[in-house]
Amino acid sequence: MQTENKQPIDRSTLKEIIYYATLAPSGHNTQPWLFTLEDNSITITPDFRRHLPVVDPDDHALFISLGCALENLVIAAQHFGYGSEIRFDLDDESEKIIIELRPEEGNPDEHLFEVIAKRQSTRRNYDGKPIPAGDLEALEVAAQKDGVMFRLFTEPSEIEPLIDFVKEGNRLQFGNKDFVNELVSWIRFKKSAAESLGDGLNSASMGAPWVPQWLGKLFVKMTTSEKEAQKTADAIKSSSALMIFIAEKDDKLTWIRLGQSFERVALKATALGIKHAHVNMPCEEVSVREKMQKHLGLKGEQPLLLLRIGYAEARPRSYRRPVKEVLHSPERSSTKGWIFVGF
Ligand SMILES: Cc1cc2nc3c(=O)[nH]c(=O)nc-3n(C[C@H](O)[C@H](O)[C@H](O)COP(=O)(O)O)c2cc1C
Repeated sequence: MQTENKQPIDRSTLKEIIYYATLAPSGHNTQPWLFTLEDNSITITPDFRRHLPVVDPDDHALFISLGCALENLVIAAQHFGYGSEIRFDLDDESEKIIIELRPEEGNPDEHLFEVIAKRQSTRRNYDGKPIPAGDLEALEVAAQKDGVMFRLFTEPSEIEPLIDFVKEGNRLQFGNKDFVNELVSWIRFKKSAAESLGDGLNSASMGAPWVPQWLGKLFVKMTTSEKEAQKTADAIKSSSALMIFIAEKDDKLTWIRLGQSFERVALKATALGIKHAHVNMPCEEVSVREKMQKHLGLKGEQPLLLLRIGYAEARPRSYRRPVKEVLHSPERSSTKGWIFVGF
């Protein structure tokens, strides 16, 4: 039940809610978000300084990441006793998501809140065990969102052609120097770098030893596109299923909604003990995405996220920047010249 209350919400509660939002996944763990606190609302804005020009030139992955943070924020707000009313202001001048918070009783998503900090991208081979039909249905329910289509693939005959697209995307990416350079710039090979920067992909979460930055770079640059493609194909074969998130429209609002849908599925999967990892390569390489669109019988709809799911041990978690580094002053509304507020 909703009650009117214009009392300002305690700032420490707002910051706790934002903490859970920051645990959301993001492409290369760039965490491309900024949050503005007001008395009864939180606004999310993109931080374009953290975009990925090579792998994500149209910023769709950036907006999907904002959608993931939004979903966590709404679930966490509920946990702290607040319902959310979301407004999207997505013209090119001021891209923002405004979440008005009002005291509200009842918390149907508590089981999802409980796993926000446990969810992780688990990049390792899985054990191949099938997922019970009831759990697959629960993922389908969690995925439901306006403008977003969701498909699951469990049969080897459905998965095999998708592996070919993944391999093709993987080969293109690892054959592209700019892609490799961008990727390497976001890998924290050394523990001290991962800890102090609090972002990026880190060696431990990818199952590699901590090494000096120069050595890590050398390893990545020595890998061949064929080796990478085979490694990813083997990882998919060890998985129980593939899932695809498809945007009915290619616009920012649909990208954000797709992120919300993905994050809900990722949390639901985590609650069910199911791990997930992205194999997005064919979504990121437009020439391969077009082939995949045809294969899936799509017309203008865009397959934007491809993931494998299954069962495996967890890996060490990836890092996040502290909340104080993702807050900015409400006075500033442009992406230039943020004032960072320390708390
Ligand atoms: C839009 C989006 C795209 C992503 N693409 C990839 C990808 O292509 N390959 C991959 O291994 N992980 C991908 N990820 C996973 C991120 O790297 C991961 O979320 C991030 O490193 C934080 O780690 P965590 O999910 O374990 O918290 C993607 C995540 C998002 C939200």
